[in-house]
Amino acid sequence: MRRKLVAGNWKMHGTLTDNDVLLTAVLAGMADVKAQVAVCVPFPYLAQVQAKLAGSAVAWGAQNMSQHAKGAYTGEVSAAMLNDFGCRYVIVGHSERRAIYGETDAVVAEKYAAAQAAGLIPILCVGETLSEREECITEQVVGRQIDAVLAKSGVASLAKAVIAYEPVWAIGTGVTASPDQAQAVHAFIRGKIRALDAGIADSLVIQYGGSMKAGNAAELLAQPDIDGGLIGGAALVADDFLAICKAG
Ligand code: PGA
Repeated sequence: MRRKLVAGNWKMHGTLTDNDVLLTAVLAGMADVKAQVAVCVPFPYLAQVQAKLAGSAVAWGAQNMSQHAKGAYTGEVSAAMLNDFGCRYVIVGHSERRAIYGETDAVVAEKYAAAQAAGLIPILCVGETLSEREECITEQVVGRQIDAVLAKSGVASLAKAVIAYEPVWAIGTGVTASPDQAQAVHAFIRGKIRALDAGIADSLVIQYGGSMKAGNAAELLAQPDIDGGLIGGAALVADDFLAICKAG
């Protein structure tokens, strides 16, 4: 039985004060939450979040990392550095990284491998753009994004990873994929993995992301292949985030 994972992706939001208020409220509401919960925060706040969440039911992580271990990479952050701050998760291949920072499937696969090599759990984001959906190539795009990781790290690596299906057209737009639309892609992903390794497919957590909020989380999370959420905007409001966590 897969346990649901609800992870907040704060993106480039937060202040020391706001984070403290948000996390205090989240921690106070965790008693009724059955899902696993995590927050992926901007790098400068990792120390704060580690101090605040250590020993609690809420795990933490980062939103990106370098594929390189160390060296002359000005402005980059390594997996080992994330380990220094107790991270459990790191998001790799978020569509904003792919679209704005030009991260290719190959780079994302390197980041995924580097994260696992350091003992971090990568949350691998995949998803199609609106035009790709309109062209009916969603499965090809998502399949290609996953294949890049499989080619480098193999299917067994998915025992220590999470996949987040995030249709790009649903991220930050207020337009959520319908439960049927999301379930169809989740089933495609799990089926693709099942063809390689049934045990891994059954235990793989596949999150949905893209305008998931308190009002639509229960319906999405009730789908058989949706095992949690990667939450952007709604993760910045404690009541909204907690409502999603409780829906899981
Ligand atoms: P959103 O973002 O919930 O604000 O749509 C999700 C994400 O980008 O991970």
